[in-house]
Parts: sequence; C-alpha cells; structure tokens
Amino acid sequence: MKEDLVLPAPREKSAGADGEPLLEVSGLVKHFPVKGGFPIRRTVGAVQAVDGVDITVHAGESFGLVGESGCGKSTTGRLIARLLEPTGGTITYRGQDISHANRKQLAPIRSEIQMIFQDPYSSLNPRQTVGKIISGPMEINGINPEGGREKRVRELLEIVGLNPEHYNRFPHEFSGGQRQRIGVARALALEPKLIVADEPVSALDVSIQAQVVNLLQKVQRELGIAFVFIAHDLAVVRHFSQRVAVMYLGKIIEVGDRESIYTRPRHPYTHALLSAVPEVNLATDDATARERIRLAGDVPSPISPPSGCRFRTRCWKAQDKCATEEPPLVQISGNREGHLTACHFPEEPTTEARDEDIVLDPALAALEEGTPGPEPAQEA
Ligand SMILES: Nc1ncnc2c1ncn2[C@@H]1O[C@H](COP(=O)(O)OP(=O)(O)OP(=O)(O)O)[C@@H](O)[C@H]1O
Ligand code: SF4
Ligand SMILES: [Mg+2]
Repeated sequence: MKEDLVLPAPREKSAGADGEPLLEVSGLVKHFPVKGGFPIRRTVGAVQAVDGVDITVHAGESFGLVGESGCGKSTTGRLIARLLEPTGGTITYRGQDISHANRKQLAPIRSEIQMIFQDPYSSLNPRQTVGKIISGPMEINGINPEGGREKRVRELLEIVGLNPEHYNRFPHEFSGGQRQRIGVARALALEPKLIVADEPVSALDVSIQAQVVNLLQKVQRELGIAFVFIAHDLAVVRHFSQRVAVMYLGKIIEVGDRESIYTRPRHPYTHALLSAVPEVNLATDDATARERIRLAGDVPSPISPPSGCRFRTRCWKAQDKCATEEPPLVQISGNREGHLTACHFPEEPTTEARDEDIVLDPALAALEEGTPGPEPAQEA
C-alpha cells in the first residue's frame, strides 16, 4: 500500500452551521410488509427491520454500527444513503430533512453520501474496466475534474494503493482486497462527505482485512470524510470508530465512545459480543473469575419481536420487568457522558480491560500499534 502518498488537503471539517452534525437520524423506522393470504394477498405483518434508531455523526467522524446478522444494520445504512425510504422517523443531512426527499431533491446530496458494499465481487460490473467503473459516478453527475476524468481516476487509483497503469483492466484481474480498493476509489470519486461502509471487509481474507481497514482509516483521517462503518464484529470497528453503537433486533441497545464501550460495556448483549468463548452460557474459568459469555439461542424473528426488552429471550439477567417494560436508551449511573445503555439490570461499571476476551486477529491488532499492513502486491 502506498501509505506515504500525499493526499489532497482535507476539506473543511465543519458541516454547515457551527457544531451542527453532518448526519442526524432520529426515531428511524423501517418496516417491510409481509404478504400472505389467498386468493387475495394482503399485508399480514411487518418485518420490523429498524425500529426507532437515533444516530448522530459529525463531519470527519467514524461511527461504528455493530450487531448480529439480521439486526438491521444494512437497512439502517441504506436508509441513511436514502436507497430506501423510511417508514418513520427523520434523517437530517447537513441540516436538511431528507427523510422523504424525492429523486430530484436528493440529486445534490447523492454525491455527498456514498456506499461501500460488502461483496467486492458483485458490487463491481465485471464488463467494465476499472477506469470506467471509477469514472462512472463522475459521468453520471456531469463532473469534469481539472485535467480530465482519466487523470482523476489515476489519482484515485494511487490514493487507494493501486497501480494507475491498471486503468484498463477488468475486475476479475484483481484480488478481493484490490477489488474492494476499487470500490473505495469509486466511492471517493465524487468527494463525498459521508461514506456508509456496509461490512466492507467481511468478505475478505483476514490478512487482507487489516489492509483495507487501514486504507479506510487513512481516507477518513486524511480526507476528513465521515464514516458509518457497519460490522458484525466489535473487533473490526474497534480500530476504526471513535463512537460505536450496538444494534439488536432493529434497535440500538448501547452506544458510546470507543473506550467506554470496549472497557465498560453495561448492556449484557455488548458484554456478550465482547466475550469470546466456545463453551457454555455463563462460566467463570479462572481465579480472576472474569465472566465469559456465549450467547445461546437464535435472534428472535423481527416479525414478532419479544415484548419489553428484545434481548430478554437470550439474556441471563432477565427478570419479569424485562418482559413488560422496554428499557429506554439512557445514560445510566456510572456511565461516561454520551455512553447510553438500554437495560433495566445493567452490568457493573467496573469491568476490567477486556482485551483478552476479544477475538482479535493479529493483523488487526497490528493496526492498533500503527504498524502498516503488508504491501498489496502480497495479496493472493
Ligand atoms: N427488502 C426486504 N424485504 C423484507 N425484509 C427485509 C428486506 N431487507 C431486509 N429485510 C429483513 O430485515 C431484517 C434486517 O435486515 P438487514 O439486512 O438490515 O440486517 P443486517 O444486520 O444487515 O444483517 P447481516 O449481518 O446479515 O447483513 C432481516 O430480518 C431481513 O430479513
Ligand atoms: S433489560 Fe433485562 S432482558 Fe434486557 S438486557 Fe437488561 S437485564 Fe437483560
Ligand atoms: Mg447487512
């Protein structure tokens, strides 16, 4: 990777008015109708994919969104990028309510919010050259950079650590990690202010994951681009996101700054995600009696989520109250400023450092120490 490459100067970090968030999501809801019945198909229920989510992202900030499969992460990401229309709630981008903006109203914003997808194989058109793929967004938006589009594409290839001479190659000529770099270059083509990265490294080899996370982090820091980084694994966003939210069945159940979430998780589900043990439910395995938890059972159906706390069917601390009262997402006693937890019976705030509990790939751990990843040339 060309880590020392000089990037363009970061753009203005502040978004609009002083201190105004870049993105503010409030009470966001997305229900997908479930059809049934014969001979007339009617709506018989709804998949409550996203059910009252609040997210605030400031310019240049990286916000991590984590949770198990099916909890509504991608739906949230797609709503933010307005690839989906919300059922309820508001999405405010740079002070403008875009919740129900139509195609024409969205046009000026489309370039500012970009997405990077999980699968670097299906997200690139196999019949287009890399040059065409990356310049596509510029063409669609009628953007003619100084020196021409080809020059800009070559610059972008260099920024993402690819050889600018590979302009005329096709996606199949690249490795998975390199394809994801092409996806990043395409996302950068319109100089976005916000990138929604939906599990951008999950499909990649573990050794390659760190390189791509490294690249994204570089982009975020040096170009001042804000990220909503979606992952199912807390270990990945740990290196990337200043703030982290944990989702469960369509809701955010805990959110806070990285340090607070990783060292003092208060929600049992966050605690469980940070634990990594292949055995039993709740076991203490050594003299220090550090709790190690393995989540039992499956995530309930989002068509009929449990009453009260949605996590109660899998929670080892659940009591009657958990079935009748939904715990609000609030700053509970002992939490740091901005660390919010939705639980009636939270974990103690004194949790010891959890590094040992986290399944952390050595390649990702190296990132924390600031060790650059290997050159992309080493990719398979
Ligand atoms: N277009 C759709 N129509 C109906 N249901 C949908 C649709 N898209 C998503 N869902 C459902 O909404 C829920 C949330 O899906 P979503 O893809 O947002 O989850 P996710 O957290 O991204 O999961 P994963 O980790 O598997 O990517 C799931 O139950 C899913 O089946
Ligand atoms: S509210 Fe109850 S069921 Fe939900 S996480 Fe807390 S203790 Fe568990
Ligand atoms: Mg998803």
